[in-house]
Amino acid sequence: MTEVPPGFVLGVATAAAQIEGAADEDGKGRSIWDTFARVPGAVRGGDTPDVACDHYHRWRSDLDLLSWLGVDAYRFSISWPRWQPGGSGSPNAAGVAFYDALVDGLLERGVQPWVTLYHWDLPRELEDAGGWAARDTAQRFADYAASVGDVLGDRLAGVATLNEPWCSAFLGYSGGVHAPGALDDARAIGAVHHLLLGHGLAVDALRARTTSARSTPAQLGIVLNVYPVEPATDAPADADAARRIDGLANRIFLDPLLRGAYPDDVVADLADVSDFSHVRDGDLEVISRPVDFLGENYYSPYVVAGPGEEADEASRRAGDHAGGSTRTTRSPWPGARDVVFADRGRPRTQMGWEVEPAGLRRVLDRLVAYGAPALYITENGAAYDDVVDDGEVHDAERTAYVRDHLAVALQARADGLDVRGYFLWSLMDNFEWSWGYSRRFGAVRVDYETQERTPKDSAHWYREVARSRQL
Ligand code: FCB
Repeated sequence: MTEVPPGFVLGVATAAAQIEGAADEDGKGRSIWDTFARVPGAVRGGDTPDVACDHYHRWRSDLDLLSWLGVDAYRFSISWPRWQPGGSGSPNAAGVAFYDALVDGLLERGVQPWVTLYHWDLPRELEDAGGWAARDTAQRFADYAASVGDVLGDRLAGVATLNEPWCSAFLGYSGGVHAPGALDDARAIGAVHHLLLGHGLAVDALRARTTSARSTPAQLGIVLNVYPVEPATDAPADADAARRIDGLANRIFLDPLLRGAYPDDVVADLADVSDFSHVRDGDLEVISRPVDFLGENYYSPYVVAGPGEEADEASRRAGDHAGGSTRTTRSPWPGARDVVFADRGRPRTQMGWEVEPAGLRRVLDRLVAYGAPALYITENGAAYDDVVDDGEVHDAERTAYVRDHLAVALQARADGLDVRGYFLWSLMDNFEWSWGYSRRFGAVRVDYETQERTPKDSAHWYREVARSRQL
Protein backbone atom coordinates (compact mmCIF):
# COMPACT_ATOMS: atom_id res chain seq x y z
CA MET A 1 0.00 0.00 0.00
CA THR A 2 1.19 3.48 -0.86
CA GLU A 3 -0.22 6.47 0.91
CA VAL A 4 -1.55 9.39 -1.10
CA PRO A 5 0.05 12.09 1.03
CA PRO A 6 -2.00 14.89 2.56
CA GLY A 7 -2.21 17.82 0.19
CA PHE A 8 -1.47 15.71 -2.89
CA VAL A 9 -4.26 16.67 -5.28
CA LEU A 10 -6.27 13.85 -6.84
CA GLY A 11 -8.43 15.03 -9.69
CA VAL A 12 -10.03 14.33 -13.01
CA ALA A 13 -9.82 16.38 -16.22
CA THR A 14 -11.95 17.31 -19.22
CA ALA A 15 -11.94 19.96 -21.97
CA ALA A 16 -14.75 22.18 -23.21
CA ALA A 17 -14.84 21.14 -26.87
CA GLN A 18 -14.80 17.50 -25.87
CA ILE A 19 -17.75 17.52 -23.47
CA GLU A 20 -19.91 20.63 -23.58
CA GLY A 21 -21.87 20.35 -26.83
CA ALA A 22 -24.33 23.26 -27.21
CA ALA A 23 -21.99 24.40 -29.96
CA ASP A 24 -24.37 27.07 -31.16
CA GLU A 25 -26.28 28.02 -28.05
CA ASP A 26 -26.64 31.11 -25.92
CA GLY A 27 -24.42 33.26 -28.08
CA LYS A 28 -21.47 30.90 -28.35
CA GLY A 29 -19.26 31.60 -31.35
CA ARG A 30 -17.78 28.94 -33.60
CA SER A 31 -14.40 27.42 -32.81
CA ILE A 32 -11.91 25.99 -35.26
CA TRP A 33 -12.99 22.52 -34.12
CA ASP A 34 -16.63 23.28 -34.94
CA THR A 35 -15.63 24.11 -38.50
CA PHE A 36 -12.80 21.58 -38.93
CA ALA A 37 -15.09 18.71 -37.92
CA ARG A 38 -17.21 19.57 -40.98
CA VAL A 39 -14.33 19.09 -43.41
CA PRO A 40 -14.93 15.73 -45.08
CA GLY A 41 -12.57 13.10 -43.67
CA ALA A 42 -11.20 15.30 -40.90
CA VAL A 43 -12.90 13.43 -38.06
CA ARG A 44 -13.61 9.74 -38.01
CA GLY A 45 -17.18 8.89 -38.92
CA GLY A 46 -17.98 12.56 -39.55
CA ASP A 47 -18.43 13.07 -35.80
CA THR A 48 -18.70 16.66 -34.55
CA PRO A 49 -18.49 18.34 -31.13
CA ASP A 50 -22.05 19.71 -31.59
CA VAL A 51 -23.61 17.65 -28.80
CA ALA A 52 -20.71 15.70 -27.26
CA CYS A 53 -21.65 14.82 -23.65
CA ASP A 54 -24.22 17.60 -23.49
CA HIS A 55 -22.37 18.79 -20.41
CA TYR A 56 -23.54 22.37 -21.02
CA HIS A 57 -27.01 21.23 -19.97
CA ARG A 58 -26.06 18.46 -17.61
CA TRP A 59 -23.28 20.15 -15.66
CA ARG A 60 -25.06 19.94 -12.32
CA SER A 61 -25.40 16.18 -12.43
CA ASP A 62 -21.85 15.93 -13.80
CA LEU A 63 -20.63 17.86 -10.77
CA ASP A 64 -22.59 15.44 -8.60
CA LEU A 65 -20.55 12.68 -10.24
CA LEU A 66 -17.42 14.47 -9.06
CA SER A 67 -18.86 14.54 -5.53
CA TRP A 68 -19.58 10.83 -5.79
CA LEU A 69 -16.01 10.20 -6.95
CA GLY A 70 -14.74 12.19 -4.01
CA VAL A 71 -11.89 13.84 -5.94
CA ASP A 72 -10.13 16.93 -4.62
CA ALA A 73 -10.03 18.81 -7.90
CA TYR A 74 -11.57 19.17 -11.34
CA ARG A 75 -9.58 20.42 -14.31
CA PHE A 76 -11.84 21.76 -17.07
CA SER A 77 -11.35 24.24 -19.87
CA ILE A 78 -13.17 27.38 -20.84
CA SER A 79 -14.35 27.58 -24.42
CA TRP A 80 -12.88 30.86 -25.66
CA PRO A 81 -15.67 31.35 -28.25
CA ARG A 82 -18.31 30.71 -25.59
CA TRP A 83 -16.70 33.26 -23.27
CA GLN A 84 -15.84 35.77 -25.98
CA PRO A 85 -17.39 34.99 -29.38
CA GLY A 86 -15.07 35.92 -32.22
CA GLY A 87 -12.13 36.28 -29.83
CA SER A 88 -12.36 40.02 -29.26
CA GLY A 89 -14.69 42.55 -27.70
CA SER A 90 -17.05 42.10 -24.81
CA PRO A 91 -17.65 38.76 -23.21
CA ASN A 92 -20.85 36.81 -23.84
CA ALA A 93 -22.92 37.19 -20.67
CA ALA A 94 -24.53 33.75 -20.97
CA GLY A 95 -21.17 32.06 -21.49
CA VAL A 96 -19.64 33.86 -18.53
CA ALA A 97 -22.67 32.91 -16.40
CA PHE A 98 -22.19 29.25 -17.30
CA TYR A 99 -18.60 29.13 -16.05
CA ASP A 100 -19.42 31.34 -13.09
CA ALA A 101 -22.07 28.86 -11.95
CA LEU A 102 -19.80 25.90 -12.69
CA VAL A 103 -17.05 27.31 -10.47
CA ASP A 104 -19.51 28.04 -7.67
CA GLY A 105 -20.95 24.54 -8.08
CA LEU A 106 -17.50 23.07 -7.62
CA LEU A 107 -16.76 25.17 -4.56
CA GLU A 108 -20.11 24.23 -3.01
CA ARG A 109 -19.14 20.59 -3.45
CA GLY A 110 -15.67 21.12 -1.97
CA VAL A 111 -13.91 20.49 -5.30
CA GLN A 112 -11.01 22.76 -6.33
CA PRO A 113 -11.56 24.44 -9.72
CA TRP A 114 -8.57 24.15 -12.07
CA VAL A 115 -9.12 25.99 -15.33
CA THR A 116 -7.41 25.65 -18.68
CA LEU A 117 -7.88 28.78 -20.79
CA TYR A 118 -7.00 27.25 -24.14
CA HIS A 119 -7.66 23.61 -24.90
CA TRP A 120 -7.54 23.95 -28.71
CA ASP A 121 -10.83 25.68 -29.51
CA LEU A 122 -9.70 28.95 -31.08
CA PRO A 123 -12.49 31.32 -32.17
CA ARG A 124 -12.90 30.75 -35.90
CA GLU A 125 -12.66 34.46 -36.67
CA LEU A 126 -9.17 34.57 -35.18
CA GLU A 127 -8.14 31.69 -37.41
CA ASP A 128 -9.50 33.60 -40.40
CA ALA A 129 -7.21 36.46 -39.35
CA GLY A 130 -4.15 34.17 -39.35
CA GLY A 131 -4.67 32.00 -36.28
CA TRP A 132 -1.71 31.31 -33.98
CA ALA A 133 0.64 32.10 -36.86
CA ALA A 134 -0.42 35.74 -36.42
CA ARG A 135 1.17 37.73 -33.62
CA ASP A 136 -2.06 39.53 -32.78
CA THR A 137 -3.60 36.25 -31.58
CA ALA A 138 -1.21 36.33 -28.60
CA GLN A 139 -2.57 39.71 -27.54
CA ARG A 140 -6.16 38.60 -28.12
CA PHE A 141 -5.46 35.62 -25.86
CA ALA A 142 -4.06 37.85 -23.11
CA ASP A 143 -7.17 40.05 -23.28
CA TYR A 144 -9.40 36.99 -22.96
CA ALA A 145 -7.28 35.75 -20.03
CA ALA A 146 -7.70 39.13 -18.34
CA SER A 147 -11.45 38.92 -18.76
CA VAL A 148 -11.54 35.44 -17.20
CA GLY A 149 -9.29 36.68 -14.40
CA ASP A 150 -11.63 39.60 -13.69
CA VAL A 151 -14.61 37.31 -13.21
CA LEU A 152 -13.18 34.08 -11.78
CA GLY A 153 -9.74 35.08 -10.53
CA ASP A 154 -10.72 35.09 -6.86
CA ARG A 155 -12.21 31.59 -6.90
CA LEU A 156 -9.83 29.39 -8.89
CA ALA A 157 -7.27 27.01 -7.41
CA GLY A 158 -5.21 26.88 -10.57
CA VAL A 159 -5.10 28.34 -14.05
CA ALA A 160 -3.24 26.78 -16.95
CA THR A 161 -2.88 29.11 -19.90
CA LEU A 162 -2.41 26.55 -22.68
CA ASN A 163 -2.93 22.83 -23.04
CA GLU A 164 -0.25 21.02 -25.05
CA PRO A 165 0.87 23.81 -27.39
CA TRP A 166 2.78 21.15 -29.38
CA CYS A 167 -0.56 19.82 -30.61
CA SER A 168 -1.92 23.28 -31.42
CA ALA A 169 1.17 24.20 -33.42
CA PHE A 170 2.34 20.98 -35.05
CA LEU A 171 -0.80 18.85 -35.36
CA GLY A 172 -2.80 21.95 -36.26
CA TYR A 173 -0.53 23.75 -38.73
CA SER A 174 2.10 21.22 -39.86
CA GLY A 175 0.48 17.80 -39.95
CA GLY A 176 -3.11 18.75 -40.76
CA VAL A 177 -4.36 16.28 -38.15
CA HIS A 178 -5.99 18.80 -35.84
CA ALA A 179 -7.85 22.04 -36.48
CA PRO A 180 -7.28 24.17 -38.45
CA GLY A 181 -5.84 21.34 -40.56
CA ALA A 182 -3.01 23.27 -42.22
CA LEU A 183 0.05 21.75 -43.88
CA ASP A 184 2.36 24.72 -43.52
CA ASP A 185 5.55 24.31 -41.48
CA ALA A 186 6.39 28.01 -41.40
CA ARG A 187 3.01 28.75 -39.86
CA ALA A 188 3.59 26.00 -37.30
CA ILE A 189 6.86 27.57 -36.14
CA GLY A 190 5.17 30.96 -35.96
CA ALA A 191 2.38 29.34 -33.98
CA VAL A 192 4.86 27.89 -31.46
CA HIS A 193 6.13 31.39 -30.76
CA HIS A 194 2.78 33.15 -30.61
CA LEU A 195 1.31 30.45 -28.36
CA LEU A 196 4.25 30.92 -26.00
CA LEU A 197 3.97 34.69 -26.20
CA GLY A 198 0.24 34.46 -25.52
CA HIS A 199 1.03 32.32 -22.49
CA GLY A 200 3.49 34.89 -21.11
CA LEU A 201 1.18 37.83 -21.71
CA ALA A 202 -1.68 35.91 -20.10
CA VAL A 203 0.43 35.12 -17.04
CA ASP A 204 1.08 38.85 -16.59
CA ALA A 205 -2.61 39.66 -16.99
CA LEU A 206 -3.68 36.92 -14.58
CA ARG A 207 -1.03 37.66 -11.97
CA ALA A 208 -2.41 41.16 -11.65
CA ARG A 209 -5.90 39.73 -11.15
CA THR A 210 -5.25 36.89 -8.76
CA THR A 211 -2.55 37.87 -6.28
CA SER A 212 -4.41 40.23 -4.00
CA ALA A 213 -7.69 38.38 -4.37
CA ARG A 214 -7.36 36.04 -1.39
CA SER A 215 -4.91 34.38 0.96
CA THR A 216 -4.13 31.48 -1.38
CA PRO A 217 -4.13 32.96 -4.85
CA ALA A 218 -4.68 30.77 -7.89
CA GLN A 219 -1.56 28.98 -9.04
CA LEU A 220 -0.61 29.93 -12.58
CA GLY A 221 1.07 27.62 -15.04
CA ILE A 222 1.10 25.92 -18.40
CA VAL A 223 0.39 22.35 -19.46
CA LEU A 224 2.84 20.58 -21.78
CA ASN A 225 3.04 17.07 -23.16
CA VAL A 226 6.73 16.46 -22.58
CA TYR A 227 7.70 13.06 -23.96
CA PRO A 228 10.58 10.87 -22.95
CA VAL A 229 12.39 10.34 -26.25
CA GLU A 230 14.77 7.44 -26.61
CA PRO A 231 16.87 6.20 -29.51
CA ALA A 232 15.98 2.69 -30.66
CA THR A 233 19.68 1.68 -30.62
CA ASP A 234 22.95 3.40 -29.85
CA ALA A 235 23.64 3.96 -33.55
CA PRO A 236 24.53 7.63 -34.24
CA ALA A 237 21.60 8.03 -36.65
CA ASP A 238 19.17 6.94 -33.93
CA ALA A 239 20.75 9.28 -31.39
CA ASP A 240 20.38 12.13 -33.85
CA ALA A 241 16.75 11.19 -34.50
CA ALA A 242 16.15 11.32 -30.74
CA ARG A 243 17.85 14.71 -30.48
CA ARG A 244 15.70 16.14 -33.27
CA ILE A 245 12.38 14.77 -32.00
CA ASP A 246 13.22 15.84 -28.45
CA GLY A 247 13.97 19.29 -29.85
CA LEU A 248 10.62 19.63 -31.60
CA ALA A 249 8.48 17.89 -28.99
CA ASN A 250 10.04 19.23 -25.81
CA ARG A 251 12.92 21.68 -25.92
CA ILE A 252 11.29 24.13 -28.35
CA PHE A 253 8.81 24.80 -25.50
CA LEU A 254 10.85 24.10 -22.36
CA ASP A 255 13.84 26.25 -23.30
CA PRO A 256 11.93 29.47 -24.03
CA LEU A 257 9.73 28.94 -20.95
CA LEU A 258 12.40 27.96 -18.45
CA ARG A 259 15.60 29.36 -19.97
CA GLY A 260 14.41 32.31 -22.02
CA ALA A 261 15.92 31.12 -25.32
CA TYR A 262 15.16 28.81 -28.24
CA PRO A 263 17.58 25.87 -28.46
CA ASP A 264 20.30 26.55 -31.09
CA ASP A 265 20.22 23.07 -32.60
CA VAL A 266 16.46 23.22 -33.15
CA VAL A 267 16.69 26.65 -34.76
CA ALA A 268 19.43 25.24 -37.03
CA ASP A 269 17.37 22.13 -37.86
CA LEU A 270 14.49 24.39 -38.90
CA ALA A 271 16.59 26.78 -41.02
CA ASP A 272 14.80 25.77 -44.22
CA VAL A 273 11.41 26.34 -42.60
CA SER A 274 11.75 29.54 -40.59
CA ASP A 275 14.30 32.26 -39.93
CA PHE A 276 12.63 33.01 -36.58
CA SER A 277 12.31 36.66 -37.60
CA HIS A 278 8.89 36.62 -35.87
CA VAL A 279 10.76 36.70 -32.53
CA ARG A 280 10.93 40.31 -31.35
CA ASP A 281 13.06 41.93 -28.68
CA GLY A 282 11.63 41.29 -25.25
CA ASP A 283 9.40 38.36 -26.28
CA LEU A 284 11.51 35.76 -24.53
CA GLU A 285 11.44 37.72 -21.30
CA VAL A 286 7.66 37.67 -21.38
CA ILE A 287 7.59 33.98 -22.31
CA SER A 288 9.93 33.03 -19.45
CA ARG A 289 8.02 34.86 -16.71
CA PRO A 290 8.08 32.68 -13.60
CA VAL A 291 5.05 30.43 -13.18
CA ASP A 292 3.87 28.49 -10.15
CA PHE A 293 3.50 25.09 -11.77
CA LEU A 294 4.15 23.09 -14.85
CA GLY A 295 1.50 20.58 -15.83
CA GLU A 296 2.62 17.41 -17.56
CA ASN A 297 0.24 15.36 -19.70
CA TYR A 298 1.85 11.95 -19.91
CA TYR A 299 0.56 9.02 -21.92
CA SER A 300 3.46 7.32 -23.67
CA PRO A 301 7.15 7.48 -24.62
CA TYR A 302 8.68 7.91 -28.09
CA VAL A 303 11.28 5.45 -29.30
CA VAL A 304 12.84 6.70 -32.50
CA ALA A 305 15.24 5.58 -35.18
CA GLY A 306 17.07 7.31 -37.99
CA PRO A 307 16.11 6.98 -41.63
CA GLY A 308 16.05 3.59 -43.24
CA GLU A 309 14.32 1.60 -40.51
CA GLU A 310 10.97 -0.01 -41.08
CA ALA A 311 8.02 1.30 -39.08
CA ASP A 312 4.82 -0.65 -38.80
CA GLU A 313 1.52 1.09 -39.26
CA ALA A 314 0.74 1.27 -35.52
CA SER A 315 4.03 2.92 -34.59
CA ARG A 316 3.85 5.33 -37.50
CA ARG A 317 0.38 6.42 -36.50
CA ALA A 318 1.50 6.79 -32.89
CA GLY A 319 4.28 9.16 -33.91
CA ASP A 320 2.14 11.02 -36.38
CA HIS A 321 -0.91 11.18 -34.11
CA ALA A 322 -2.70 10.65 -37.42
CA GLY A 323 -5.88 9.87 -35.60
CA GLY A 324 -9.04 9.07 -37.41
CA SER A 325 -8.47 11.41 -40.36
CA THR A 326 -8.95 10.06 -43.84
CA ARG A 327 -8.10 13.36 -45.52
CA THR A 328 -4.53 14.26 -46.40
CA THR A 329 -2.35 14.53 -43.35
CA ARG A 330 1.39 14.14 -42.99
CA SER A 331 4.08 13.77 -40.38
CA PRO A 332 3.89 16.73 -37.99
CA TRP A 333 7.68 16.83 -37.53
CA PRO A 334 9.18 19.51 -39.83
CA GLY A 335 12.86 18.88 -40.46
CA ALA A 336 12.49 15.37 -39.02
CA ARG A 337 10.09 13.63 -41.40
CA ASP A 338 12.65 10.92 -42.02
CA VAL A 339 12.53 9.84 -38.37
CA VAL A 340 10.93 6.46 -37.74
CA PHE A 341 8.84 5.77 -34.64
CA ALA A 342 9.96 2.33 -33.56
CA ASP A 343 8.08 -0.48 -31.92
CA ARG A 344 9.65 -2.29 -28.95
CA GLY A 345 6.85 -4.81 -28.92
CA ARG A 346 5.42 -3.57 -25.64
CA PRO A 347 1.70 -3.33 -24.87
CA ARG A 348 -0.14 -0.45 -26.48
CA THR A 349 -3.49 1.14 -25.76
CA GLN A 350 -6.26 1.38 -28.34
CA MET A 351 -4.64 4.64 -29.53
CA GLY A 352 -1.52 2.69 -30.51
CA TRP A 353 0.40 4.44 -27.72
CA GLU A 354 3.02 2.31 -25.95
CA VAL A 355 2.38 1.79 -22.23
CA GLU A 356 5.45 2.63 -20.15
CA PRO A 357 4.81 4.05 -16.65
CA ALA A 358 8.57 4.38 -16.03
CA GLY A 359 8.65 6.96 -18.84
CA LEU A 360 6.68 9.30 -16.59
CA ARG A 361 9.47 9.17 -14.01
CA ARG A 362 12.06 10.02 -16.65
CA VAL A 363 10.03 13.07 -17.65
CA LEU A 364 9.58 14.22 -14.04
CA ASP A 365 13.29 13.82 -13.28
CA ARG A 366 14.14 15.78 -16.39
CA LEU A 367 11.74 18.60 -15.59
CA VAL A 368 13.26 18.93 -12.14
CA ALA A 369 16.73 19.03 -13.70
CA TYR A 370 15.47 21.78 -16.01
CA GLY A 371 14.54 23.87 -13.00
CA ALA A 372 10.79 23.52 -13.49
CA PRO A 373 8.50 24.80 -10.72
CA ALA A 374 6.00 22.55 -8.88
CA LEU A 375 4.80 19.70 -11.06
CA TYR A 376 1.30 18.34 -11.57
CA ILE A 377 0.37 15.41 -13.76
CA THR A 378 -2.47 17.27 -15.45
CA GLU A 379 -3.51 14.33 -17.66
CA ASN A 380 -2.92 10.60 -17.71
CA GLY A 381 -5.24 7.83 -18.80
CA ALA A 382 -5.99 5.34 -21.52
CA ALA A 383 -8.42 4.39 -24.27
CA TYR A 384 -9.43 0.78 -24.47
CA ASP A 385 -12.21 -0.90 -26.37
CA ASP A 386 -14.72 -1.03 -23.51
CA VAL A 387 -17.33 -3.75 -23.39
CA VAL A 388 -20.63 -3.17 -21.62
CA ASP A 389 -21.50 -6.27 -19.67
CA ASP A 390 -24.95 -6.25 -18.12
CA GLY A 391 -24.73 -2.50 -17.60
CA GLU A 392 -21.18 -2.58 -16.21
CA VAL A 393 -17.79 -1.90 -17.73
CA HIS A 394 -14.99 -4.08 -16.35
CA ASP A 395 -12.13 -1.96 -17.64
CA ALA A 396 -9.30 -3.76 -15.89
CA GLU A 397 -6.68 -2.52 -18.38
CA ARG A 398 -7.58 1.14 -17.79
CA THR A 399 -7.56 0.63 -14.03
CA ALA A 400 -4.11 -1.00 -14.23
CA TYR A 401 -2.85 1.80 -16.46
CA VAL A 402 -3.98 4.52 -14.06
CA ARG A 403 -2.81 2.63 -10.99
CA ASP A 404 0.67 2.05 -12.41
CA HIS A 405 1.14 5.67 -13.49
CA LEU A 406 -0.26 7.11 -10.27
CA ALA A 407 2.15 4.82 -8.39
CA VAL A 408 5.06 6.36 -10.34
CA ALA A 409 3.87 9.87 -9.51
CA LEU A 410 3.57 9.03 -5.80
CA GLN A 411 6.99 7.36 -5.76
CA ALA A 412 8.53 10.43 -7.37
CA ARG A 413 6.93 12.53 -4.68
CA ALA A 414 8.17 10.15 -1.94
CA ASP A 415 11.66 10.47 -3.45
CA GLY A 416 11.51 14.21 -2.92
CA LEU A 417 10.37 15.55 -6.31
CA ASP A 418 7.89 18.39 -6.00
CA VAL A 419 4.98 16.52 -7.60
CA ARG A 420 1.77 17.92 -6.18
CA GLY A 421 -1.09 16.21 -7.93
CA TYR A 422 -2.52 13.84 -10.51
CA PHE A 423 -5.52 14.36 -12.79
CA LEU A 424 -7.00 11.35 -14.52
CA TRP A 425 -7.95 11.85 -18.17
CA SER A 426 -10.87 11.75 -18.30
CA LEU A 427 -13.90 12.12 -16.07
CA MET A 428 -16.04 10.67 -18.85
CA ASP A 429 -15.89 9.42 -22.43
CA ASN A 430 -15.87 12.33 -24.83
CA PHE A 431 -15.08 13.76 -28.27
CA GLU A 432 -11.55 12.53 -28.90
CA TRP A 433 -10.60 15.06 -31.60
CA SER A 434 -9.97 13.45 -34.99
CA TRP A 435 -11.03 10.10 -33.54
CA GLY A 436 -14.47 11.46 -32.81
CA TYR A 437 -16.43 9.31 -30.36
CA SER A 438 -14.59 6.12 -31.36
CA ARG A 439 -12.02 6.33 -28.56
CA ARG A 440 -13.13 6.24 -24.93
CA PHE A 441 -10.88 7.60 -22.17
CA GLY A 442 -13.53 8.02 -19.49
CA ALA A 443 -13.66 6.59 -15.99
CA VAL A 444 -17.39 7.09 -16.54
CA ARG A 445 -19.03 5.65 -19.64
CA VAL A 446 -21.24 7.91 -21.75
CA ASP A 447 -24.01 6.43 -23.87
CA TYR A 448 -24.16 9.00 -26.65
CA GLU A 449 -27.72 8.01 -27.60
CA THR A 450 -29.24 8.56 -24.17
CA GLN A 451 -26.47 10.62 -22.48
CA GLU A 452 -26.62 8.17 -19.63
CA ARG A 453 -23.48 8.12 -17.45
CA THR A 454 -22.27 4.82 -15.97
CA PRO A 455 -19.19 4.66 -13.76
CA LYS A 456 -16.81 2.00 -15.05
CA ASP A 457 -14.84 -0.26 -12.70
CA SER A 458 -11.96 2.24 -12.99
CA ALA A 459 -14.21 4.96 -11.57
CA HIS A 460 -15.17 2.75 -8.60
CA TRP A 461 -11.50 1.98 -8.06
CA TYR A 462 -10.43 5.65 -8.28
CA ARG A 463 -13.19 6.57 -5.86
CA GLU A 464 -11.82 4.09 -3.35
CA VAL A 465 -8.32 5.57 -3.76
CA ALA A 466 -9.75 9.03 -3.12
CA ARG A 467 -11.68 7.80 -0.08
CA SER A 468 -8.94 5.73 1.56
CA ARG A 469 -6.02 7.89 0.33
CA GLN A 470 -4.24 4.60 -0.26
CA LEU A 471 -3.08 3.12 -3.53
C1 FCB B 1 -4.34 14.89 -24.81
C2 FCB B 1 -5.38 16.00 -24.86
C3 FCB B 1 -6.74 15.58 -24.35
C4 FCB B 1 -7.10 14.18 -24.80
C5 FCB B 1 -5.99 13.22 -24.48
C6 FCB B 1 -6.28 11.80 -24.83
O1 FCB B 1 -3.36 15.16 -25.74
O2 FCB B 1 -4.93 17.09 -24.10
O3 FCB B 1 -7.67 16.53 -24.78
O4 FCB B 1 -7.39 14.19 -26.14
O5 FCB B 1 -4.81 13.62 -25.12
